Amino acid sequence: MKGKKRFAWAMVCWACGLILISCGRNHAASEDRLYVGVAFYNQSDSYISELMNCLKEQFARMGEGDMKVTMAMRDAAGSQRTQDDQVKEMIDAGCNVLCVNLVDRTDPSTIIDMAKEKDVPIIFFNREPVSEDMMRWDRLYYVGADAKQSGVMQGELAADAIRENKRIDRNHDGKIQYVVLEGEPGHQDAIIRTENAVDTLKNQGIELEKINCGIANWNRAQAQNRMMQMIGQYQNKIELVLANNDDMALGAIDAYKKLNFTESARPVFFGIDGTDVGLRAVVDLELAGTVYNDKEGQAEAMAKLAEGLALNREMKGLKFKNKKYVFLPYKKITSDNVGGFIGKNGGRN
Ligand code: GAL
Ligand code: CA
Repeated sequence: MKGKKRFAWAMVCWACGLILISCGRNHAASEDRLYVGVAFYNQSDSYISELMNCLKEQFARMGEGDMKVTMAMRDAAGSQRTQDDQVKEMIDAGCNVLCVNLVDRTDPSTIIDMAKEKDVPIIFFNREPVSEDMMRWDRLYYVGADAKQSGVMQGELAADAIRENKRIDRNHDGKIQYVVLEGEPGHQDAIIRTENAVDTLKNQGIELEKINCGIANWNRAQAQNRMMQMIGQYQNKIELVLANNDDMALGAIDAYKKLNFTESARPVFFGIDGTDVGLRAVVDLELAGTVYNDKEGQAEAMAKLAEGLALNREMKGLKFKNKKYVFLPYKKITSDNVGGFIGKNGGRN
């Protein structure tokens, strides 16, 4: 019995080996087989981990039909060197399309060279390579969202709230004292979101006074620390916190909770993403608003693009900018419409 089982396993492994070897040799995909290699920069990033769940669902759904879909996923844990090795491994194993969330968005050369050599198209996502790199090969694509739009929307949400609620200007000086919590330096979504949120508020006639700005790398714990320092420095002077993402807005709220500030003594907080915890904070009225970073839409676009590129199929319903870019629109969220976003991802919230 044991011998038979072992033999059966040996046959399965042999067959799998053959599939991988044959695909490794000629990287053209057989008509109905999609092997996608997904590389992402860091599992500990809340938004990315939710986006990866959406992507898994998309490819799983695709595999329910006639097409055979295999997906490998690799977490680079913040190291570009690790990611380069992971991509090499997936190309060697025979993947016919890659989805890459670069660790260092200015350093995709190794990955592009390896993929080009084996003619494996790449869909970059969320961390946008610079345009010179995108031009290096016609089989490079990008799926993401327009950073400027998210900043403008955050500014509009904050302006509406400030106009509607006079208590936000706690010291009644006609100006809003604000701080910014910024994402990773060099990330396309960090500086652009900040600039556009602040400009939008100003364009809407809101008088602002900038108190401080802290970098917290998208991270909740780092944001809490930065906020604790700022509260130590400025006590109850801060009236508005603009955070480049939900996790950092939540970190700022954590700081105020930890220091036992009553709700009326806290500033208003705005985030971006609409992560599960972010949406919950909007429902609980802790976060005044956020901007939905459409992970379902991005995952769907990536899956369609992957299928189209690997199997040379028509890509229905995808709108390209400059032939290479697919940008999904952001959406504004407040407590008025948050219900429509909860459960969007199949009820995992
Ligand atoms: C942004 C997102 C952040 C973070 C970052 C990672 O689009 O808003 O929360 O996930 O991507 O690249
Ligand atoms: Ca004020």
